[in-house]
Amino acid sequence: MAVRVGIIGCGKITERASVPNLVNYKEKAEIKALCDIVEDKAVAMAEKFGCKGVNIETDWKRVVKRKDIDAIFVNTPNYLHEEMAIGAAKKRKHILVEKPITISNKAARKMIKAADKTGVFLMIEQTQRFDPVHQAAKKFIDTGKLGKINMVKGRIGHAGPEYWAGGNEGWFSDKKLSGGGAMIDIGIHILDLLRWLGGKEVAEVCANIKTLEKPFSVDDNGSVLMRFTDGTFGQFEASWTTRPYEVMTWIYGERGKVHTAIGTEIPAVARIATTGEGKDPNCVLEDINLEIGPGSGWESAIHYFIDCVAKKEKPFITGEEGAKSMAVILAAYESAEKGKWVRVKY
Ligand SMILES: NC(=O)c1ccc[n+]([C@@H]2O[C@H](COP(=O)([O-])OP(=O)(O)OC[C@H]3O[C@@H](n4cnc5c(N)ncnc54)[C@H](O)[C@@H]3O)[C@@H](O)[C@H]2O)c1
Repeated sequence: MAVRVGIIGCGKITERASVPNLVNYKEKAEIKALCDIVEDKAVAMAEKFGCKGVNIETDWKRVVKRKDIDAIFVNTPNYLHEEMAIGAAKKRKHILVEKPITISNKAARKMIKAADKTGVFLMIEQTQRFDPVHQAAKKFIDTGKLGKINMVKGRIGHAGPEYWAGGNEGWFSDKKLSGGGAMIDIGIHILDLLRWLGGKEVAEVCANIKTLEKPFSVDDNGSVLMRFTDGTFGQFEASWTTRPYEVMTWIYGERGKVHTAIGTEIPAVARIATTGEGKDPNCVLEDINLEIGPGSGWESAIHYFIDCVAKKEKPFITGEEGAKSMAVILAAYESAEKGKWVRVKY
């Protein structure tokens, strides 16, 4: 039987990612309810994607209560994730929550506890991990050919939420609703990706986070230095003033490096060099264009979650994973405010 889904929030991510990638997976997934406080948005979504017979709701509590639903997608502004995920967990629904998990460490812990209590899956939609470019990089890194990883570096940037949201940045620039600006919105994408590619946990951060260009009270650019628990270090940047969109990583190991770059012609390469033994360390032994699979990060993330629910297999981006990434971002904000290194509190 197909996994039956209710989606809360019928905005941009639902239109661009969730509904199309459920509709193209119809042998495995069925959309049972579309919910938005603005009823017309749910109706328009159903019409656009030909979701015949779908239930249109305006009250999310009615959706999580439905007996004909197995899983809930929480696709609303960040501050609502906590309440909705906990409400869904209480009604024993598996949950896919959009990134960031929520906007405070305490709220994240409550969400994890609620899901654990009823034994449902809580997956956080950190979609960069699913991008075929990053999947290829991870596969290569996991071969161990780089040797010990010493440094990781990353950058994500786009032109800002007003371009994503069609001219009005809406709740993205209201700290109470979003938790912050570029750093929590997309900094969490690149940081989560680096945690996963490098296989490291962040112990401390030191950050510059500012509003450089936009007429917003939240940040539009940030740069963060990290010390990992194993003593190695790294850095990342998040920007809402970068045109065109880019996502870049550099993973440095003892014997070479992996570089990924979305937004350029060669999206993922690995270079393995000699390690000395009297030879020139700049001598490249292997230059590998990593093989990129088909599809998109959004599509793979959604199909993966549906498969996990169907097979009763715990998704690998758990609530804890989402909470760890968010804790680093919150520590970065604290560091920028205090002007000093801050320990990450998980
Ligand atoms: N994974 C990604 O790459 C990615 C990309 C963009 C956005 N997101 C995340 O997706 C989430 C939604 O972002 P978006 O860009 O779709 O925002 P959006 O503003 O386009 O959509 C949010 C929708 O939620 C609805 N809503 C608000 N309160 C509600 C309530 N109480 N009940 C039901 N519906 C309610 C709004 O009316 C709106 O239609 C955010 O957490 C954002 O960070 C993830």
